[in-house]
Amino acid sequence: MLTNKNIILGVCGSIASCKSASIVRLLVKSGANVRVIMTKDACNFITPLTLSTLSKNPVHLNYFDPETGAWNNHVELGLWGDLMVIAPASANTLAKFANGLCDNLLSAVYLSAKCPIYFAPAMDLDMWKHPATQKNISTLIGFGNTIIHPGYGELASGLIGEGRMAEPEAILEFLNEELKKKLPLKGKRALVTAGPTYEAIDPVRFIGNHSSGKMGFAIAEELAALGASVVLITGPTSLKLNHAEIKRIDVSSAEEMLEAALKNFIKTEISVLSAAVADYRPKQISQNKIKKDSSEFVIELIKTPDILATLGKEKQAGQILVGFALETDNEEENAINKLKKKNLDFIVLNSLKDVGAAFQNDNNKITIIDSELKKEVFKLKPKTEVAKDICKKVLDLLA
Ligand code: C5P
Repeated sequence: MLTNKNIILGVCGSIASCKSASIVRLLVKSGANVRVIMTKDACNFITPLTLSTLSKNPVHLNYFDPETGAWNNHVELGLWGDLMVIAPASANTLAKFANGLCDNLLSAVYLSAKCPIYFAPAMDLDMWKHPATQKNISTLIGFGNTIIHPGYGELASGLIGEGRMAEPEAILEFLNEELKKKLPLKGKRALVTAGPTYEAIDPVRFIGNHSSGKMGFAIAEELAALGASVVLITGPTSLKLNHAEIKRIDVSSAEEMLEAALKNFIKTEISVLSAAVADYRPKQISQNKIKKDSSEFVIELIKTPDILATLGKEKQAGQILVGFALETDNEEENAINKLKKKNLDFIVLNSLKDVGAAFQNDNNKITIIDSELKKEVFKLKPKTEVAKDICKKVLDLLA
């Protein structure tokens, strides 16, 4: 969630400043770019060297560097952040920010920042309870800022009560949840099929195809990154998922894929069926390995169920159903026929004539045709980027 996010961490003077080192470490571990701003008092509790080493960036202390005289551009820094966290936030800093005072770099960056801002207060219990502090907290919330509430426990004064800064792990968890809430597909459920299916001939052999599953996996990852809870039903593939929250169901045959898809479809707002399902399967599956005694060998084939068409029949209002068409000739005409026949919201067409696209490749070249026959042609690009184009179309339809 925090990968590649630009985080400004403000550190104020408090015994909890020591925990800022853990916050920086956890943010960096999550893939965030971190720039730390410290107040003068914070430097009495933890050194800028510690935080610059952990954040892999120089720590900002003043409007200008006293050695070089170089100007620290607070506006630029404020605009750089995707998110600003002040942890620990002292009573003094909360009071200053609530009243728009601007006498240090941190307060100037706060006033310049346009991103969401989070405060993790840390102070003694009576300071926290004081009406002045509580009024400042209400004012800051009124400005659209968010408070990460302090916990109950032993305080530096030896007293026990509320005022302990939230633990670094809890702060990270809080930020992750906040970012998730802002994702456009938060609360939506998605179903994706990927890969080939294997239709058994005997215990050793099968009928299959060259699908790698890369396109379906990329779509599942992108839907999850946009906040959807994703179920990925995949045929045999060696691919691994990066997103920990995608529920993966491994199947082998078309029948198994259909069963899993039907179980999940009813609860799903978005379904993207990209699997290259085998169209036929052997009528009989031999229980034992078939011997190569005769010079000719005939297998009787019967049709597999069409998963996409089955879901198209079940589709209710509010469900988006997307299919793929891999064609070699009359591409658009065939794709439009499938779009109509299978009751889809849009179809993703890729042609085997496009060099470097489709099966096994890391790239794909697609055309999206929707139910109003509006057509969008895309350039050859990595499947991860193609997945973004497909999900953008889903977002457009939802909007
Ligand atoms: O009809 P055709 O196989 O070309 O349609 C391709 C689309 O239908 C793909 O989205 C594929 O995942 C889906 N499909 C399916 N079950 C089948 C055959 C295709 O879900 N048996």
